[in-house]
Amino acid sequence: MCKSEINIRGLSHTYLPGQPGERIALQDINGDIRQGELLAIIGPNGSGKSTLARHFNALLLPTRGTVTVNGLSTADPANLWEIRCRVGMVLQNPDNQLVAALVEEDVAFGPENLGLPPAEVRRRVDHALSMVGLSDLRLRPPHLLSGGQKQRLAIAGALAMKPSCLVLDEPTAMLDPAGRREVLESILSLNRQEGLTVILVTHFMEEVVFADRVWVLSEGRLVLEGTPAYVFSQREVLQKIGLALPGPAELAWRLRVAGWPIPAGVLTLDDLVTCLEGLLSKTGWGRP
Ligand SMILES: Nc1ncnc2c1ncn2[C@@H]1O[C@H](COP(=O)(O)OP(=O)(O)OP(=O)(O)O)[C@@H](O)[C@H]1O
Ligand SMILES: [Mg+2]
Repeated sequence: MCKSEINIRGLSHTYLPGQPGERIALQDINGDIRQGELLAIIGPNGSGKSTLARHFNALLLPTRGTVTVNGLSTADPANLWEIRCRVGMVLQNPDNQLVAALVEEDVAFGPENLGLPPAEVRRRVDHALSMVGLSDLRLRPPHLLSGGQKQRLAIAGALAMKPSCLVLDEPTAMLDPAGRREVLESILSLNRQEGLTVILVTHFMEEVVFADRVWVLSEGRLVLEGTPAYVFSQREVLQKIGLALPGPAELAWRLRVAGWPIPAGVLTLDDLVTCLEGLLSKTGWGRP
């Protein structure tokens, strides 16, 4: 079993406590995020996903309970620097995160602010750009990049700080399908090839199927957790809180209800096609 990197105990968060507009956004969240895993966090609008994500690098502090990163409590100001270095954050709108006139300068911004020697800054920039496949565009102004490229640049900026964990809050929400695929592929390769812990907040169920584990939030509570296969087997629970299965999983469920012997755990289009081809070939309707 991998070591845990982030531990959450009895976490509650209330915005504007005691004031008009007070809002309980998280209630008694408990859980551990393991080193090197890809955890997806899903939930309907307003369920507390972003609030939770912001606790992982101390952008928000618990109203009650604790969040620790490698044993360091986010509530202790003395740990802030270390925690921000370990846990990188990428938000929904890449335009809000890009600061410089050229791609490579943008990635260098963070490491330069750390006061690192120029050779180390260059090494980090080279590595971060190559990780997200933007090395060839290093001299381009960020505003000329596509949405997917901009978001990959934002990821490179976070990577240049050498985090061990990357938190992405709906990084693909503003992108078209091609941009979403680009960014998802970068995220998956960082997790699988570089061993980075990834926490991915998303509304796209098709992205969730690649996660090791899924947390489902509803009204500030962690209501369901497990592997994608388990979570998406809980169709009724998800429906009650306003979430849908990934398209292929929903189709598999409907076919199963209609009497087709589709096994549980079909989540992706590839799974479904393989399964249907197997069934059809038995009836003589297989591929010629
Ligand atoms: N700065 C704030 N002040 C007061 N209330 C807030 C603030 N930010 C969020 N909230 C409230 O806290 C609750 C949780 O919001 P949060 O943004 O964490 O949800 P979310 O799951 O990320 O939603 P979405 O899917 O729309 O991004 C919501 O009711 C929201 O209105
Ligand atoms: Mg949000």
